[in-house]
Amino acid sequence: MKDRAKAQFERWARSYDRSLLHHFLFRSSYVALMEEIARWRAEHDQPFRVLDIGCGTGELAAMLARSDWEVTAVGLDYSPAMCRAADAKLAGLGSTGRAGFVAADSEFLPFADASFDVVTCSNSFHHYPHQQNVVHGVRRVLRPGGRFVLIDGFRDNVVGWVTFDVIVSRIEKGVYHAPWSVIDGYFRAAGFTNIRRRKINFWMPLCITVGEV
Ligand SMILES: C[S@@+](CC[C@H](N)C(=O)[O-])C[C@H]1O[C@@H](n2cnc3c(N)ncnc32)[C@H](O)[C@@H]1O
Repeated sequence: MKDRAKAQFERWARSYDRSLLHHFLFRSSYVALMEEIARWRAEHDQPFRVLDIGCGTGELAAMLARSDWEVTAVGLDYSPAMCRAADAKLAGLGSTGRAGFVAADSEFLPFADASFDVVTCSNSFHHYPHQQNVVHGVRRVLRPGGRFVLIDGFRDNVVGWVTFDVIVSRIEKGVYHAPWSVIDGYFRAAGFTNIRRRKINFWMPLCITVGEV
């Protein structure tokens, strides 16, 4: 499953930012991630570190680098081509000092315990064969007071089920869009508290789950 995902995104990296999915689906997730980070920031007036797992072309890191927050962003992606595209994007903004990218697997985060304030993950989680392990790893690298913001296909209504379980699963073979009850279970098992969710978009709905340490 991981090799298939890697091969798919190695091919897609160059044209990813120009794709229709990027405009019509992924963009709304970056906006939602920024809203959640702003919410965390409003409660913690301090310099902070964000880790974006399955970061793709580094769009979130670019948005953070353009913000006036004192933030350092690290993007992690299994696809080296995605990381190269992200590096090039940040270099184009002249913001390489505020963000860096690591080619690695979300299941094995190469970071010290309690080294990030916010961890984000958008449109990537359904590619992970061992989702509970990933959530445990995220919990490990978060500091006390930290937050995990997870966005992925919402498949708990008919529109979401058709979109993600029927259509997307046929295109991206072997992926798993977990129902929210399962995601909630992952968060609880990893020790997250104040777990909440909200849904965005009517067509191609996304579920945003937030848990606190
Ligand atoms: C649809 S893209 C989402 C990119 C970005 N987060 C967004 O919302 O546009 C999914 C990304 O997850 C990455 N990915 C898939 N499996 C992964 C894994 N096991 N570890 C890290 N990244 C992974 C892919 O390489 C790809 O860049």
